Amino acid sequence: MSIDIAVVPVAGHGTRLLPATKSQPKEMLSVGRKPVVQYVVEELGLSGIQRLLFITSHGKASIEQHFDFDEQLGGYLRETGREEQLKALEFERLNMEYFYTRQRRQLGLGHAVLCARPLIGSQPFVVALGDSIIGLHAQSDIVRRMISQFESNHADVVVAFEEVAPEEVVHYGIAQPAGEVSEVFQLEKLVEKPSREEAPSNLAVAARYVFSPAIFDALTRIKPGKGGELQLTDAISLMLDGGCKGLGVTLSKTERRFDIGNFDSYFRTFAEFAMSDPEYGASLRSFVRQLLDREET
Ligand code: G1P
Repeated sequence: MSIDIAVVPVAGHGTRLLPATKSQPKEMLSVGRKPVVQYVVEELGLSGIQRLLFITSHGKASIEQHFDFDEQLGGYLRETGREEQLKALEFERLNMEYFYTRQRRQLGLGHAVLCARPLIGSQPFVVALGDSIIGLHAQSDIVRRMISQFESNHADVVVAFEEVAPEEVVHYGIAQPAGEVSEVFQLEKLVEKPSREEAPSNLAVAARYVFSPAIFDALTRIKPGKGGELQLTDAISLMLDGGCKGLGVTLSKTERRFDIGNFDSYFRTFAEFAMSDPEYGASLRSFVRQLLDREET
């Protein structure tokens, strides 16, 4: 059976988005009509994921509530004939089983993934970070392509990458490819948030991974890395050092990664998603045009 389980870490504090994230998870911030994490779940559904394990933490209960059935709300909308609003709840019926576990101490992304070990056991699995959307309105099958490379090449780890500008490498895990870079390439090493000078390439980890369970052993062997945290990238490098096979898959031009982790890219993402909303996009675009014209005069 092909991989159908994904781990979605949503335990981070979202400190770069304060005060918006003081009492709500960054993953529940709205981008256009939907919270970020709903896009992530819908994208995973498109790639054949049917079981989803959220790694949550203090203050993240609204994520669980969002994916629950709300019978009372549904009943009310039905009784009062609000068909349009009812349609907005259709995601409740996604073919997905939800599981939740908590990261009880904030020791880094690597530690958050390690919290999945008791539930994942010895099966291969996907990791999708809950604060990044791939593709406009999450129309991407990147995870399906990664799973297919993982299986056909008998890989131990597959990571999605996006080319970023040289000044952006400091924000991401960066690939050291083993040779030529194309749509699929051999991975030699990853460096977490290097300086511009240290960066081995400008290929940034794009928030989607496929792992064999060997990652869990690597995660127990790493020491705190960048920022004093247990870094997933360090565990991947350790696997690769030990002879595991790692591949990179690059995002296509049409499936940019939308990172919600800081205000600059959150605002841009919101603007782009809202401006392409089928109902309100045209009017928003003309409003923005008016604002910009006014600014120029
Ligand atoms: C994490 C990872 C980093 C990756 C990034 C993708 O960083 O540690 O390797 O490139 O997610 O969004 P964070 O954004 O949690 O600082």
